[in-house]
Amino acid sequence: MLSNLAVRDIETLVHPYTNLAAFRETGPLVIERGRGSLVYDNRGKAYIEGMAGLWCTALGYGNEELAETAAAQIRKLSFGHLFTGKSHDPAIELAERLKEIAPVPISKIFFCASGSEANDSQIKLVWYMNNALGRPRKKKIVSRLKAYHGVTIASASLTGLPNNHADFDLPIAGFLHTACPHHYRFAAEGESEAGFASRLALELDELIEREGPDTVAAFIAEPVMGAGGVIVPPESYFEKIAAVCAKHDVYMIADEVICGFGRLGTMFGSQALGFRPHGVSVAKALSSGYVPIAAVMVPEILYEALLTESRKIGTFGHGFTYSGHPLAAAVALKTLEIYARDRIVEQAAAKGPQFQAHLRKLGEHPLVGEARGIGLIGGIEIVADKRTRRPFEPTCGLGARCVRFAEDNGAGDVVSICPPLVITPQEIDELFDRLGRAFDQTLDWAKREKLLAA
Ligand SMILES: Cc1ncc(COP(=O)(O)O)c(C=O)c1O
Repeated sequence: MLSNLAVRDIETLVHPYTNLAAFRETGPLVIERGRGSLVYDNRGKAYIEGMAGLWCTALGYGNEELAETAAAQIRKLSFGHLFTGKSHDPAIELAERLKEIAPVPISKIFFCASGSEANDSQIKLVWYMNNALGRPRKKKIVSRLKAYHGVTIASASLTGLPNNHADFDLPIAGFLHTACPHHYRFAAEGESEAGFASRLALELDELIEREGPDTVAAFIAEPVMGAGGVIVPPESYFEKIAAVCAKHDVYMIADEVICGFGRLGTMFGSQALGFRPHGVSVAKALSSGYVPIAAVMVPEILYEALLTESRKIGTFGHGFTYSGHPLAAAVALKTLEIYARDRIVEQAAAKGPQFQAHLRKLGEHPLVGEARGIGLIGGIEIVADKRTRRPFEPTCGLGARCVRFAEDNGAGDVVSICPPLVITPQEIDELFDRLGRAFDQTLDWAKREKLLAA
């Protein structure tokens, strides 16, 4: 029996990433409040937020300092924009701070409100740059199968997941997808990680050669793929991919939307995986997810091009009303201050081994093909047959069933795990206990449904 609130939800909201037809029967899980690493539903049941919202709430829920900062900023300057040369303190200070901590030398910061906007802006800026540099044909963008870069028309075109393209008439022309660095799924029999990485780099090289290096502008990658299934690239992958990009003068963008700010135990994911991009996109943990803010880190070569175009056209014709919103900038600045003061990145690194040990242990479960991760991020790949790695039929709903069991155990999503960075060691133990129970229940259910040999 659906509650009154559930019925009102069904009749009013379009939910992102939801089977809208099935949802009419099940209704929502209404989360009412949160504190630390826990959230509570509207019946008072507590859950460990094993996904930090959507890879967002690095500092957990209900941080008083962020609440105070937000309130003070609203009282002082509740709105301000950066159009036509206007400015305000929080945006200036936040940009300065981001330049200081950036993983590569950065000249300027362009603010926006979401990861999609950041990646969309990256594409526009690269196109603009290549026009300024007098190479108008160099415009194609290479992304990877299973990548996730957002949902606006350009960022969804970068995304390499079928559900983001089907019937949306995407990807648009000029967006190419190269192979996914998922060793467990896509390596050939007996192929080493290094061998697999070399083969993928060769495939990228061949793709660029086929398209014509003078037509390929940029390559974008998440250091660890998130929404595509928490895919940690094989050893030496980025080193080899970066060499191919350098060979063809292809601008390299790190999408640090989920890996940035400590998730992998380093400030940026590209540092953990040993590559140096030209440009960087950040969002989510930039404000611990408390307010929408994202940024494009602009290197000098790109900034010079923006200057050239400004001189030619008379303005830089790009920007969002909420670019550098003072409330968002103030909260993000305070977030970065807390990360530094409380050594949050070092703490995340210190908790990584405990988290990864639990994850590997879960890998022994009969339903788990591979449990992989790095730092405080983990992905659990469910299989019907451990030996052959055969997945379950998508229509049997096993993944969704496992999520439901995990929620019943109060554990959130089970396929990807990325708790708040402030999660305590006791909560990590508890999170994995609950996940283990959810996997056992899923196994029993799969046997009852005859999805597995009993
Ligand atoms: C790596 C990555 N890039 C971009 C995005 C898109 O961000 P948003 O949903 O804020 O537009 C996401 C969202 O999960 C992401 O994981």
